[in-house]
Amino acid sequence: MHKPKNIFLIGLMGTGKTTVGRQLSRKLKMDFYDSDRVIEERTGADIPLIFEKEGETGFRTREAAIIDELTQKKNIVLATGGGAILNAENRNHLVNRGTVFYLKSNLKTLLERTSKDKNRPLLHANEPVESILKRLLEQRGPLYEETADYIIETANNSIHSVIQAIIKHLE
Ligand code: S3P
Repeated sequence: MHKPKNIFLIGLMGTGKTTVGRQLSRKLKMDFYDSDRVIEERTGADIPLIFEKEGETGFRTREAAIIDELTQKKNIVLATGGGAILNAENRNHLVNRGTVFYLKSNLKTLLERTSKDKNRPLLHANEPVESILKRLLEQRGPLYEETADYIIETANNSIHSVIQAIIKHLE
């Protein structure tokens, strides 16, 4: 059976899922969704406030419902939150309902891209951002790889070449 024509982007914070996803969707004339933005629209609160009021567990529950809903759409590009792959049901939906691309980056690049970030509560703990990212990369790397149909390196590649690489795999 052919997979539905959806494109799902997974990977850590700062790998370029949203930027790549938006531009890719324009090029392919597909609808674009970012699961975090949909959660914020539905909740009427931004991600840091959701974490503050409901904790990570509350956020993950909302995230799972949105991933289930969005992955049932047709002909979309979806940028997922970096932790979406932690949940086995989310992973199944992604794998079964579209082609999954892991946008992979190295620690140095991730650090540069997220160092001034204020919207990612997981990076605001009592621990240096570098060691948080290192841990997340170690914990999640295998899950990203197991969920992905294709792995695309984003650290030393332009947005344009990342998009071209994705399109090439779809042909
Ligand atoms: C998270 C990543 C964020 C957002 C939330 C949790 C994570 O999304 O879902 O802050 O667990 O890695 P981005 O990957 O789009 O930054």
